[in-house]
Amino acid sequence: MCIDGPTASGKGAVAKLVSEALGFAYLDSGVLYRLVALQALRAGWADDRLLSENDELQLAQWAAELDVRFDGEQVLLNSENVALDIREERVGNMASKIAVSATLRSALLERQRAFAQGAGLVADGRDMGSVVFPDAPLKIFLQASAEVRAERRYKQLIAKGFSANMVDLLQDLNERDARDANRTQAPLKPAQDAYILDSSDLTLLETVDVVLKMYAQ
Ligand code: CDP
Repeated sequence: MCIDGPTASGKGAVAKLVSEALGFAYLDSGVLYRLVALQALRAGWADDRLLSENDELQLAQWAAELDVRFDGEQVLLNSENVALDIREERVGNMASKIAVSATLRSALLERQRAFAQGAGLVADGRDMGSVVFPDAPLKIFLQASAEVRAERRYKQLIAKGFSANMVDLLQDLNERDARDANRTQAPLKPAQDAYILDSSDLTLLETVDVVLKMYAQ
């Protein structure tokens, strides 16, 4: 099953709970982009770097060599738990910037597909239904208004102990939406056979319930 949607639409939380309810594996594809972004930031890349052809090759190389293991809540990059580091807003913003690279996107393709082994998979991201798993039995595109999404992101960051303010978050969110929509490779839009679900007025558990009912049909 694929759950795609814009930034902070709640797709990650929904996908995780749906995967647990069904006993399926879970792929948060954004984590892969965030891990590569973390490497770029640690290598000293500035926030406003313009990606050169060499940069794109470097990103693809980091992606190909990514030594990552998921263990419960832990995300182990070269055995270091970076679960909290990758949730920082600056990492999310860098992930959004490098995700425009077609070279990086194709370097991550097979790694994402490798998660589809065994009982079943719930994958969340931007292009799970449109590019990575075009034959998935159920595709959902999760929407919510920009204000609701900014509020959700605010609560998520505060709960993790980060500082945040709504004005900056709303601006980041609009910029990320624009980059997702305007990139040439896999621009964010629902797969043709995706169901569009607006969760603006639904709680997390109500959204999970709707998704599980759709799956059961
Ligand atoms: O939801 P949020 O934007 O905070 O983050 P995410 O889902 O963890 O993804 C981080 C960034 O990676 C996003 O801004 C997307 O632009 C990009 N991404 C992507 O292009 N394709 C995916 N399948 C997943 C994430």
